[in-house]
Amino acid sequence: MQKKKYNFLIVEDEISVLKVLNDILKLSPVVNMLYSAENGEDAFEIYKTNEIDVVVTDIMMPKITGLELIKKIKDYNPEAHIIVISAYGSVENLKEAIRNGAYDYILKPFTVDEILFAINRVVDKLRLLYEKKKYIISLEKAVKEAKKELESSFYDSLKAILNTLEVRDVKTLEHSHNVAIYAEKLGKKAGFSKKELDSLIMGATLHDIGKIGIPDNILLKNGKLEEMEYEIIKRHPLIGRKILLPMLANNSHVLEIVSYHHERFDGDGYPEGLKGLKIPLFARVVSIANAYDRMLNGTLYSSPKDFESIKKDFIFNSGKQFDPELVRIFLSIIEG
Ligand SMILES: [Fe+2]
Repeated sequence: MQKKKYNFLIVEDEISVLKVLNDILKLSPVVNMLYSAENGEDAFEIYKTNEIDVVVTDIMMPKITGLELIKKIKDYNPEAHIIVISAYGSVENLKEAIRNGAYDYILKPFTVDEILFAINRVVDKLRLLYEKKKYIISLEKAVKEAKKELESSFYDSLKAILNTLEVRDVKTLEHSHNVAIYAEKLGKKAGFSKKELDSLIMGATLHDIGKIGIPDNILLKNGKLEEMEYEIIKRHPLIGRKILLPMLANNSHVLEIVSYHHERFDGDGYPEGLKGLKIPLFARVVSIANAYDRMLNGTLYSSPKDFESIKKDFIFNSGKQFDPELVRIFLSIIEG
């Protein structure tokens, strides 16, 4: 595999030295583009407008000195790699150059080998940095993929739990699926992003997962529930939250849906009696989708309703059970 080459900028006010440096760098197989400037001002302009990997600069120059140039470049790009050339071998100048962020130095008079040695050393470091960056990017990608895989297999196992619920409460799976479809339609029209819609669909699909913790004699009871039994049913949002929390702690929208899909806009819902816009938006959306499917297909306690009755129910409960703005949008969807 061909090794990566780098772009160099040489800054030197003595034309003869500049020419020699140019000729030496041209010999190096690691040099790609070679730029040169006779003063600091031009050098800084070239640096800003080109992709320069290494700057080789003299220290003693008119207008902007090499020391000032290092500072300017380092302010502009803290990761810049700069090699200084000092004619005087002044320890103070070199110390300041290093303090200003120079990576290495070469003393005048220099030999060809000294220049090539310094060039190779800086290139070794650049290659190491490049490999490190590449490694970090591939690591981040691998972690992201593993997380995605884990989340999707977790989602699959949750859907398997829904299947077990289906065995007990025949309509659960179909209901979850329908709620996800209506919630997606409402979310789309309400302006949700693609990512938000993904969370909305996942939350709507899993919204009743907590019913796994409700005993059969209550969950499947035919007829009216006793008050105590209803209190037990009302636990399912928090049971669902408990099931999902360990895995979906950073997907707050799914947790909001599972926890609050039975809250009411007027504050009379459960489990917390949240009111109005205090109920998370995602839960307000699923509340409408949930009610729509329950009315359309009926439940253990109620028969299916016709379209006109459903519409009337939504209008009557707008601002009571449901967010009025979302009801308005949802009616425009089902009427259209
Ligand atoms: Fe529910």
